[in-house]
Amino acid sequence: MTVNHPTQAPGSGACETVQLASDAAGTAEAGRLLAQGALVAFPTETVYGLGADATNPVAVAALYAAKGRPAFNPLIAHVGSVAEALKLGRFSPLARKLAEAFWPGPLTLVVPLAADGPVCELARAGLQSLAIRVPDHPIAKAILDAAGRPIAAPSANRSGHVSPSTAAHVRSDLEGRIAAILDGGPTSVGVESTILAVLDDEVAMLRPGGLARDAIEAVLGRPLAEGRDAGSAPLAPGRLASHYAPDHALRLNATRIAPGEACLAFGPVVPKGADPALTINLSQTGDLAEAAANLYASLRALDALPSNGMAAASVPRHGLGEALNDRLQRAAAPRVVI
Ligand code: TXA
Ligand code: MG
Repeated sequence: MTVNHPTQAPGSGACETVQLASDAAGTAEAGRLLAQGALVAFPTETVYGLGADATNPVAVAALYAAKGRPAFNPLIAHVGSVAEALKLGRFSPLARKLAEAFWPGPLTLVVPLAADGPVCELARAGLQSLAIRVPDHPIAKAILDAAGRPIAAPSANRSGHVSPSTAAHVRSDLEGRIAAILDGGPTSVGVESTILAVLDDEVAMLRPGGLARDAIEAVLGRPLAEGRDAGSAPLAPGRLASHYAPDHALRLNATRIAPGEACLAFGPVVPKGADPALTINLSQTGDLAEAAANLYASLRALDALPSNGMAAASVPRHGLGEALNDRLQRAAAPRVVI
């Protein structure tokens, strides 16, 4: 196997990050680079992913290094079709039902690993389960098909930072650390996939995301379990309290904004005292899907303004509001250094 120059010095800032066009030549080149072991960021319907060949431990090690991600945090294996996905894991009838209902789409399924599956141990952080996703995005599908192997793709941001919903966000976090970025415009869903574990005859939600709980429960015909073990530690190892973190401190459920404080508004009623020059509205009409699509770009834009802190209005908890509240809570949480 040849590993070309872009992965030789991961994290050193030493490689030039090429911009690939969102056409057939661009997706073919992205697939070729990935198959060679290079790191390529590409759009999915949720957020931009940073791809690496999930079967190649050298490429996966470079990916962890480029993101500054702890290697105990396993990665999602992405493939271009449901048929490819079903080969990677052991799907119970329940898991198969969810796959058929929601793939391609903003859902990740954690299932027991298939015997002799191709995804390397480093990508799984040594676990005997595997997180699998089939994205619903024509560019992602073209790249995954061209690569011809499962691609590990965490969100294409520095570990712990706000996730990227545009190619410019990726560039500002990872320029010089990855081989290429394919710019497919802003992502449509805007928050990461919902993660469900289907390891036995229970379905547990490990991360709320772009597929709302009620749609899943409608297919299951019963409520979802929460993904917590007896010690109440989250079952998704990467679910740290502080994540998606802007540089400025963020406070939540604000009804009044202090002088000089930036405001993340939601809906037609803006918190009292908000300075229009320091205010970004996630959705003027109070539309949760629009708010999810705008979340990360708004957090980044607000963070770049000269303020003495940021405050977010409350967001309803139903539908995509569950994922929005989850991300806002983690963005506001005290920072941990890992
Ligand atoms: O929308 C998405 O899911 C995006 C796009 C790029 O596809 N990807 C993404 O990946 O959000 P990442 O790495 O940022 O988040 C993956 C999460 C982590 O919290 C990780 O701990 C969890 O999935 N995970 C991966 N494998 C797991 C496993 N076997 N069991 C439990 N959790 C797992
Ligand atoms: Mg992430």
